[in-house]
Amino acid sequence: MGKIVILTGAGISTESGLGTFRDAGGLWERYPIEQVATPEGFARDPALVHEFYNMRRRDARAASPNAAHQALARLQRDWDGEVVIVTQNVDGLHEAAGASVLHMHGRLNGACCVACGARWDAPPRMSPADPCPACAAPATRPDITWFGEIPQHMDEIADHLISATVFASIGTSGQVYPAAGFVREAAQAGAHTIELNLERSDISAAFDERRTGKATQVVPAWIATLLPE
Ligand code: APR
Repeated sequence: MGKIVILTGAGISTESGLGTFRDAGGLWERYPIEQVATPEGFARDPALVHEFYNMRRRDARAASPNAAHQALARLQRDWDGEVVIVTQNVDGLHEAAGASVLHMHGRLNGACCVACGARWDAPPRMSPADPCPACAAPATRPDITWFGEIPQHMDEIADHLISATVFASIGTSGQVYPAAGFVREAAQAGAHTIELNLERSDISAAFDERRTGKATQVVPAWIATLLPE
């Protein structure tokens, strides 16, 4: 039955009440990227950065998975082959729906230590004075991949992309690399590629097939073609 590799972005969580980054009114219109999503911004003002992620952690914990997250979890459970879900999202909605996912941009529910590299589950609120539970240094940060940093799980993701028979991209604008390059890697390795998004993205032309609409509609409809009742 083959391997299906799925990349998700902020658009899959919009209908759960979490905003996107680049749509009108998106997060990056309200908060400058260089202040809240770069190592340099964190070094300049860690309290501001923690507040930004405390707010997003609170919103994400209050949100529930929607029909698109649930359909992907069902595909992962019932498909007669392998289904790998890679997300750029830092919310926990795929897991809340019962799926297992690779978080390439980290997790709001994760914390790590700049001094010793330890990782642990984030409390609801983090602050610059929090000591690391492993080495006690007051050098803790959200376990989030910021601009200028290397995303997580890249070797594993690369292996999955070259062995995919289907590659799907859901709810992402295709503006941020390396994720935006996954479609070409999968296509070069022979995968059929499909984009499911509210509108055409920057990389739509690279896909064999496109399904346009809201994630809660187009994702369950696509999955119904793969898992007939
Ligand atoms: N259903 C499907 N797609 C949607 C929906 C919806 N209900 N609502 C919005 N979209 C689409 C938008 O049309 C847009 O193409 O989701 C996409 C969201 O794009 P971005 O805001 O750029 O989010 P994303 O692609 O996930 O951003 C990638 O950028 O800033 C970084 O680290 C951050 O992981 C993030 C990365």
